[in-house]
Amino acid sequence: MEFKDYLAGLTEDIENIIYSFLPEEKEYSVKIRQAMNYSVKNGGKRLRPVFMWLTYKMLGGDKEYVNCFMSAIEMIHSYSLVHDDLPAMDNDELRRGKPTTWKQYGHAEGILAGDGLLNLAYETSLKAFEKAYDDDIKDIAAASRILASKAGIDGMVGGQAVDVVLTGKSIDYDTLCYIYKLKTCALIEASFMIGGALAKTDETAILRLEEIGTNLGMAFQIQDDILDIYGDEVSLGKPLHSDEKNDKTTYVSLFGYERAKQYVEEYSQKAVGLLNTFPENEYREYLNELFVMLINRSK
Ligand code: IPE
Ligand code: IPE
Ligand code: MG
Ligand code: MG
Ligand code: MG
Repeated sequence: MEFKDYLAGLTEDIENIIYSFLPEEKEYSVKIRQAMNYSVKNGGKRLRPVFMWLTYKMLGGDKEYVNCFMSAIEMIHSYSLVHDDLPAMDNDELRRGKPTTWKQYGHAEGILAGDGLLNLAYETSLKAFEKAYDDDIKDIAAASRILASKAGIDGMVGGQAVDVVLTGKSIDYDTLCYIYKLKTCALIEASFMIGGALAKTDETAILRLEEIGTNLGMAFQIQDDILDIYGDEVSLGKPLHSDEKNDKTTYVSLFGYERAKQYVEEYSQKAVGLLNTFPENEYREYLNELFVMLINRSK
């Protein structure tokens, strides 16, 4: 089977798993429930749970409770996008080809749908404990801690906070790297690390998985910056020139297109090199193909 077809099938399976944890649209809070479901069900590449699953399988994991963490990371990622698009942040009106959550449901609903998804993520990941045997409790605790810390002030939230505060100000390269490492790399690092932790991988291997996530995350955000200028709005599903509108410093504004493209290539190859320090099997190959495919992604 071609990798593209394998990935499409895997993504669909993962989507169905995530959807099974989403709230019923009922009660007085029906509007927020709808807004939460809208924010997750509106497409998206589902890359973070795909990274987690392939890492888990690569390292020999075979338990069903990985599903709880795959769903949780995508809920946190989706909430981060809902808040990222808010008028007080990037003020964008298009996401995954549809009106952003706040545009569709209102400002307060955008904030609350994000809050709802964040909490649902932890509720969902905690369900792993209910499905586990005694042997697995420590691994699930470790995975939970990774999830919480990479999503929080030392992770995605911290990066978004600095991104927002420094918008419109000229920032240096080190500050830009700090922002990317947190706002984008952190959740990608968590995806690889949780896959490893649940598969009972040792500490040093988890650090290597983190480094894979850092490098891939840097490549991913730089390509996102490139697509913000040179992409196609229809395939991207979000507005072009959001960064320019918000006067953001990016890799492209600092280095120009050619050098930014080189960075994407270099960071991706570094991730591939680190991946190849793990024993070879079909899942490692899938990850390899995915890393290479993402270098030239158009969405
Ligand atoms: C967009 O992430 C935000 C960034 C971190 C650059 P994705 O490109 O993974 O967004 P979806 O989930 O596919 O919409
Ligand atoms: C990444 O930055 C956003 C998050 C970490 C939530 P961007 O603001 O560039 O992401 P897009 O381009 O809106 O998806
Ligand atoms: Mg942003
Ligand atoms: Mg944005
Ligand atoms: Mg962007």
